[in-house]
Amino acid sequence: MKIVVIFGTRPEAIKLFPVVHALRAVPGIDTRICVTAQHRGLLDQVLEMSGITPDIDLDAMRENQTLDGLTARLITALGEVLDAEKPDRVIVHGDTLTTMVASLAAYYRKIPVAHVEAGLRSGNIHHPWPEEVNRRIVACIADLNFAPTQGAADALLAEGRDPSGIHVTGNTVIDALLATKARIDADPSLAVGLDDLAARFTGKRIVAVTSHRRENFGDGMEAIATAIRTIAARPDVAVIFPVHPNPNVRGVMEAQLAGLRNVAMIDPLDYPHFVRLLDMSHIVLTDSGGVQEEAPSLGKPVLVMRDTTERPEGVTAGTARLVGTDGPRIVSEIFSLLDDSTAYGAMARAHNPFGDGQAATRIARIIADAR
Ligand code: UD1
Ligand code: UDP
Repeated sequence: MKIVVIFGTRPEAIKLFPVVHALRAVPGIDTRICVTAQHRGLLDQVLEMSGITPDIDLDAMRENQTLDGLTARLITALGEVLDAEKPDRVIVHGDTLTTMVASLAAYYRKIPVAHVEAGLRSGNIHHPWPEEVNRRIVACIADLNFAPTQGAADALLAEGRDPSGIHVTGNTVIDALLATKARIDADPSLAVGLDDLAARFTGKRIVAVTSHRRENFGDGMEAIATAIRTIAARPDVAVIFPVHPNPNVRGVMEAQLAGLRNVAMIDPLDYPHFVRLLDMSHIVLTDSGGVQEEAPSLGKPVLVMRDTTERPEGVTAGTARLVGTDGPRIVSEIFSLLDDSTAYGAMARAHNPFGDGQAATRIARIIADAR
């Protein structure tokens, strides 16, 4: 059986590298890797860390790319890849443009699609945007849907998807996180790049921040930056913020936060260093999807700068809280966690509703059986 795994961004690569390794361990499956490189530097960091060399690299990223421009570039290029490769199956992950377009290109050729991290729904097509529609399109096409949780499987069933193609596997991000943490524990030199910052901020509580959502560009990013300024004015707090390279994020953050004593704006971290940052943090403030899943597993309270989430399991468990993008609300939520140890203790419990670290093995087995 020949499989082409198609991905293009940092989170897809992090969540698919365990699947690629698990598939490669199954005899009789020829696993080919096609990256669109919708992300360039962020993707390459993960490829290098995970030891995956793409068979095909479409090098699609452009500076400040538009949704329609990227869609147009990818649909033709991915069609040509599938015509040349003629796989028995395509595997995609999540909800990016790469994922949606790869599924469509496969569908146009009647190639079956397996969807990893299927069934996440916020219920609002504008939040996250355009991801909520991307993953709904993939669900129309995929014959195998790997739901990370029972809630995600229920969402697919409620949409009328074939129950025989839905499998609850856990989220492969937990496989990636546990494997990476074990590697760092065995060899701390993999993540020593933050030692200088840790020394500079000794005695302060660290708030780790990430932000990149398209629906937050403009007013949302300005409000997030203003909130960070206020939080970092406290002498007992330091903010470490690996800034996404998107110019719509970087421009605002550099204008508002450069030069602040208690703020370290740094380049995106490779995955081992980011796991180390989460580990050394007191609170995580993010609009990311993947970080919402990782922080609870490490017992870190996570404040989510969104109004809705497709990952309600962390909120239900009490380890994540939706705080929106209103600046004063973000500040008051962070301050209440900093100043109320009971509230902090209630959120800072290691909780892992997203998986047990065995998702990739389950997925590889199901794919092998589907041949
Ligand atoms: C994309 C995904 C989003 C995912 C996010 C993860 C879509 C529509 N969006 O959003 O679902 O949560 O990735 O990070 O698929 N850039 C670089 N270097 C990089 C990566 C990005 O310079 O390595 C800059 C480029 O100017 C690029 C811009 O960021 O044009 C936007 O990249 P894009 O992939 O379109 O959007 P993201 O916001 O990263
Ligand atoms: N991440 C990373 N380095 C960073 C920031 C994030 O390796 O500097 C990882 C993080 O651990 C998570 C993934 O990138 O696994 C999340 O990516 P992102 O927030 O860009 O996308 P989303 O999950 O929102 O789609």
